[in-house]
Amino acid sequence: MHLLTLHDLGKEAVAELIDRAIELKKRHKRGIPYRPLVGKTLLLFFEKPSTRTRISFEVAMSQLGGSTIFVTSQDTQLGRGEPIKDTARVVSRYVDSVVIRTHEHERIEEFARHSTVPVINGLTRTHHPCQVLADVMTIVEKKGACRGLKIVWIGDGNNMANSWIEIAGLLKLRLTLACPADFMPRKELVEAALKGGAEIEFAPTPQDAAKDADVINTDVWTSMGDEEEREKREEAFKGYQINEALLGLAGPECIVMHCLPAHRGEEITDGIMDGSHSVVWDEAENRLHMQKAILERLLTGGEQR
Ligand code: CP
Ligand code: NVA
Repeated sequence: MHLLTLHDLGKEAVAELIDRAIELKKRHKRGIPYRPLVGKTLLLFFEKPSTRTRISFEVAMSQLGGSTIFVTSQDTQLGRGEPIKDTARVVSRYVDSVVIRTHEHERIEEFARHSTVPVINGLTRTHHPCQVLADVMTIVEKKGACRGLKIVWIGDGNNMANSWIEIAGLLKLRLTLACPADFMPRKELVEAALKGGAEIEFAPTPQDAAKDADVINTDVWTSMGDEEEREKREEAFKGYQINEALLGLAGPECIVMHCLPAHRGEEITDGIMDGSHSVVWDEAENRLHMQKAILERLLTGGEQR
């Protein structure tokens, strides 16, 4: 089984992963060792930079008893034109799973088609499933549950927004988005989520979206690979900043999330990032515990006694 998008998991597995990650986090805090992946190797193949995804997967694998190899395309023959399908066939003979961070989603799909070991999406242009699993885990920890809450996405309709829409469909969540007209998320994902039972609403302004919110989520205005559009984006996203005035419209217990890295002073102010409503550090920590739940599930099928 691969994890390229959240649909690959389905609703039961998504719900189980969230519970399992919370459980693994508790066990880890109590210092209980759990090493079901002894002898297993995870390859991290990254074509874009990363702090959280790379380090959390490496530490997750180490805590579960396994080991990792990190490569970029420049380190490998892929950088010299060896086809993805040949690379996938070869590395599947060596390692037990592969995390890939790349540009176009089709690249990871091509790899997965020819891989005989599970392929995990560590971010593509259109999806960031592991991050959104950790985000929902964080909401469940902070609020007790996700369903029924007013969860808001303000900003770019990017990979994060797309994965949020997918999880909203799988878990029947209420998701309100405010995105500039030229930066909307994938329409087909919205349609699928609505069919799945999500309540998805597009608000005309960030202020409308933020009103009475329980959770406000944002991300950078210029994602990796979009750098040429930086100026156009800065113009389009003016007014989409998470700041004190916007948070003032939200519910009194509203939590603020950001997958990080943040551009402080652009999509979010210093005051909000470092303020009492921000849960961004717990959210980042939860990447580690969620990666462990994902690896356990894909490499062993579930909890090992
Ligand atoms: N949130 C996230 O994926 O961070 P990195 O780019 O540092 O991995
Ligand atoms: N949307 C961002 C997320 C970074 C973790 C990007 O793709 O660059």
